[in-house]
Amino acid sequence: MRRAIYPGSFDPVTNGHLDIIERGCKLFDEIIIAILVNPDKQPLFSTDERRDMLGEVLKTIDHGSCVIRVDDFRGLLVHYALAQEAHAIVRGIRAISDYEYELQMALMNRRLEPSIETVFMMPAETYSYVSSRLVKEVFQLGGELTGLVPGLVETRMRGKLVNS
Ligand code: PNS
Repeated sequence: MRRAIYPGSFDPVTNGHLDIIERGCKLFDEIIIAILVNPDKQPLFSTDERRDMLGEVLKTIDHGSCVIRVDDFRGLLVHYALAQEAHAIVRGIRAISDYEYELQMALMNRRLEPSIETVFMMPAETYSYVSSRLVKEVFQLGGELTGLVPGLVETRMRGKLVNS
């Protein structure tokens, strides 16, 4: 039974995240999608809203027999991963520019907790430039999001605009 944590901000979840989760499901029996609760950041969506969106869109992906759970965590990722008895941390790498930061995190996490491996996965090329940050920027400036985020996420983003 191999369990992995896929941590992130998921503000909001993108099609790139879903692509990585589908790929991760081919390697692990269980993946916990772990949303970082970061009191220093002002997210677009609350933790509950992100949990809810993830729960909904994960129903639409191909996960085979892999069990997917959505959770949130505070503090050190490796402490959370240990508490969940996870074997690995999954991170997506889109381009060389991601690699430096991801390598630093992976090595720091290994130093903190050598028993947990980090597994880097590449999303489909289609998503190699998709990030939550750019998605929010494009959306706020009136750009088209089709194909970048699930339809439900786009709808919830529109709801934010209406309510603001
Ligand atoms: O989607 P993101 O924002 O790139 O995810 C970053 C995340 C959540 C993986 C990273 O910030 C993290 O693990 N934070 C938890 C705090 C921690 O463990 N810091 C030490 C990492 S070396």
